[in-house]
Amino acid sequence: MSKSSRISGFYKLTIEERIKVVKEFAELTDDEVGLLRRVGRLGLDVADKMIENVVGTFELPYGIAVNFLINGRDYLVPMVIEEPSVVAGASNAAKWCREGGGVTSIATEQIMISQIQVVKVPSPHTAVVKILERKKEILDLANSTNDILVKLGGGAKDIEVRVLDSPVGKMVVVNLLVDVKDAMGANIVNTMAEAVAPIIEDASGGRVLLRIVSNLADRRLVRSWTKVPKDVIGGEDVVEGIVYAWAFAAADPYRAATHNKGIMNGIIAVALATGQDTRALEAGAHAYAARRGRYEPLSTWETDSEGNLVGYLEIPIAVGTVGGSIRSNPMARLSLKILRVKTAKELAEVMGAVGLVQNLAALRALATEGIQRGHMKLHARQLALAAGARPEEVDVVAEELVKSGRITLEKAQEILESIRVRK
Ligand code: MEV
Repeated sequence: MSKSSRISGFYKLTIEERIKVVKEFAELTDDEVGLLRRVGRLGLDVADKMIENVVGTFELPYGIAVNFLINGRDYLVPMVIEEPSVVAGASNAAKWCREGGGVTSIATEQIMISQIQVVKVPSPHTAVVKILERKKEILDLANSTNDILVKLGGGAKDIEVRVLDSPVGKMVVVNLLVDVKDAMGANIVNTMAEAVAPIIEDASGGRVLLRIVSNLADRRLVRSWTKVPKDVIGGEDVVEGIVYAWAFAAADPYRAATHNKGIMNGIIAVALATGQDTRALEAGAHAYAARRGRYEPLSTWETDSEGNLVGYLEIPIAVGTVGGSIRSNPMARLSLKILRVKTAKELAEVMGAVGLVQNLAALRALATEGIQRGHMKLHARQLALAAGARPEEVDVVAEELVKSGRITLEKAQEILESIRVRK
C-alpha cells in the first residue's frame, strides 16, 4: 500500500493522535506503540551492557518530521534533538521540496577505510611496492576474519599504500578499503586491520603501530539533490537571498561552520533516533568539508534556467542498520521500522536528504525574517518549563514571555508567579 507522508497540521495534533498516524504509516504493533508512550525505555540492564560505569539513562525528545519524499518514496522521519524549530523546519522545507518532486538521494557503495601505520621503514618507496605485491594475500587474510560479510558480497576489496612526510620523518600508510554492507563497519575494519598487520610488517621491514578505522569516510558518500519551484519558496527575492546566504558560506569558513552545523542538525537528529555513532558522522562531515585545504559548505544552492532554487549536498555518511548498539536499543529498532528502511545505503540516502532539507529550512529563515522569531516562541516554552510551569501553564507563560520581549528564565519565573497569584 502506498502511503503519503504529506500531513498538514501534524503539529496541531495531540501526542496520541500523532502516535496513531505513525502507527498506521509504519504498521507498528501495540508493543511498539507502547514503547513510544513509555518513558525510560532503555532499561538500566540494557544500558549497563552498552557502556561502562552506568548509573542511569538520559532522555531527549523524539519527534517525527513529516512530508518527506525521497527517491519517489514517502518517509516519516524520526528525529531526536533538544533544539526547538529543527523538526518543524525540516517538515516545512520537506513540503517545499515535495512540490518540485522531492529529493533525489544517491549513496555510493558502503566502503569504509581502515588505516595501518608503518613506522621505521628502511626504504619507504620499496615498501610500497612490496606491500602492493602481496595485495591478494592481504585481502584474503582480511576477509578470513568475516565469512558472513564476504557471503553477503562485502569484505575487503582493495588497498592503497602511500608514503607520508610526517613531523618525525617518513612513514608508510596502508588504507584497506572494505565494503561493510549494512554495518557502520568500524569494528569490522579494525579487526581486519589488526589481522593483516603482520603481513604488512613483513613486506615493509618496518613496524606497524596504529590499526584503526578512518572517520573520513570519503568512499561512502551520499549525494542529495532537490529543486524547489520559486513560487513555493516565496518568489525570486527569497531564492536570491538563499543563494547569497550559500555564497557567504562558500566565501567564509566562519559562516561555513554554521551553515554545516545546520545540515548536521538534521543528520545527527536522525542518527540519534537510529542509534548511530554521531561523533563519527560529525568527524567525517567536517573533515570532508575541509578536504580541499579550506573549510567549505557541504551544500551548494543555485538557480536553474527558470529561476527555481536547486540544492545539492555531498557528504560522507557512515551508518548501519545492523550491529550491537542498534539491535540492543529498542528505540533505534523502532526508528528503523518507522523509516521503513531496509539497508544502510537507504538510511544514508534518507539522512543526506534530511541534511539538505534542514539546510534549506535554516537558509530560508535566515534570508527572510531571521531565525529568532520562530525560535523564540519555542525557546520561551522551554524556559516556561524550566521555570516550573505545569503543562497547562506552559503556553500562557510562553506567550507572555514573548510579548514582554525579555525571554529569560527570571522573567519566566516572574510571569509564572504572577499567573498563579491571579488564579
Ligand atoms: C541553528 O541550530 C542552525 C543555524 O545556525 C544554521 C545556519 O545558520 O545555517 C540556523
